[in-house]
Amino acid sequence: MPKDSLTVIDNRTGKQYELPIQDGTIHATDLRQIQVAPDDHGLLSYDPAFMNTAACRSAISFIDGDQGILRYRGYPIEQLAEKSTFLLLLHGELPSAGELDRWVYDVTHHTIIHENIKKFIDGFHHDAHPMGVFVSTVAALSTFYPEAKHIEDERSRRDQIFRLIAKTPTLAAFAHRHTVGMPYAYPDNDLSYTGNFLNMMFKATEVKYTPHPVLEKALDVLFILHADHEQNCSTSAMRGVGSAHADPYSAMAAAAAALYGPLHGGANEQVLRMLHEIGSKENIPAYIQRVKNGEVRLMGFGHRIYKNYDPRAKIIKQTADQVFDLTGKNPLIDIALELERIALQDEYFVSRKLYPNVDFYSGIIYEAMKFPIDMFPVLFAIGRTPGWLAQWQEMLLDKEQKIARPRQVYIGSPLRDYVTIEKR
Ligand code: CMC
Repeated sequence: MPKDSLTVIDNRTGKQYELPIQDGTIHATDLRQIQVAPDDHGLLSYDPAFMNTAACRSAISFIDGDQGILRYRGYPIEQLAEKSTFLLLLHGELPSAGELDRWVYDVTHHTIIHENIKKFIDGFHHDAHPMGVFVSTVAALSTFYPEAKHIEDERSRRDQIFRLIAKTPTLAAFAHRHTVGMPYAYPDNDLSYTGNFLNMMFKATEVKYTPHPVLEKALDVLFILHADHEQNCSTSAMRGVGSAHADPYSAMAAAAAALYGPLHGGANEQVLRMLHEIGSKENIPAYIQRVKNGEVRLMGFGHRIYKNYDPRAKIIKQTADQVFDLTGKNPLIDIALELERIALQDEYFVSRKLYPNVDFYSGIIYEAMKFPIDMFPVLFAIGRTPGWLAQWQEMLLDKEQKIARPRQVYIGSPLRDYVTIEKR
């Protein structure tokens, strides 16, 4: 009869241990009993970059990286992109019509930000990267809502969650308007979540901005695709900072800062810069050669978990066609498609299972929609906000969680005496 356990023999001592297996994992603290001497700290597992360590139990998103499957709360991403709306994702279960109306109302009516926030956005340099402005203003929100530190209070948590979801598009759009020197456009409560964001980004002199429904829907789909993705770098930052019981604004600023990195959410910006640098299809083979020589990375390719086509990239390609019908084709799509075709036949990419990820095509749509390139990571952040907050709340309610505190393997000098400056 097979047993759900792992038998380990420590060849240093000859002792045998039986470690329980639960949900396909062993508990790392069960290794502590494996000691050479009674006073040693026991065996540690060493896992730089968390290649094979589960840090939590989560019921939010599920990925099968070999099959290229992504689900939120059990629902396939393809069905959500087709049938859901972004705000609908905020509930753990599909909400009733009444619950959804209430939630949409609450979010819609909290999009305004305190006037003082405009003042410090004004203080940023004219060419400040909008993601830097976004990270800073999200952190600053904590000073406007001091009650946010009451994280143990369910009502307070709910308030902060819908405030953050409501206000991130406003902060993002204001960061953009500052860099282009346009007056801030205030939220319009008659519009949908994405329609209002387009309004705050692009409204010029017209009395009322009317978003195009195709662009509104495309942005909704893109936000859905970005909403959550297991324990990625920024989500781990959100949980890590949140585990010290920091308020959610400070924790989310940390998450957004992690997302800013070019290996994570900043990749969409780098993909566009790369496609512009390649410039035309003839230059692709030379660029691929540079990638293979290790001079550059092919941005928008590869993923820690997906060893197959990222399902989000497939949906984005379909959305691109709908947007291009309206805006005209972004010529970069031809370079991207050819780059993908060549890469997917090349032994370097095939052997390493490197496929296009979500960031490979998203920027091409954003650019066709007239978003400036440096806004792309900010758009990713708006989409990821509900995921960060859902993960933050799940972490706080999880009785197994404590302050995050990884162990280390010390490789520094052994004990030595301090040498005064005269003797050095
Ligand atoms: N271009 C060229 N080679 C690559 C790339 C790439 N984009 N990605 C991975 N490799 C190679 C890498 O050099 C290594 O080769 P070798 O075994 O010969 O040393 C091998 O593939 C494994 O790569 P890794 O860096 O060990 O893999 P990782 O899981 O640590 O990194 C990644 C994942 C996403 C950071 C990486 O694939 C990458 O840098 N991609 C480009 C940036 C990018 O598109 N990021 C967006 C990720 S999706 C959105 C998100 O959720 O953040």
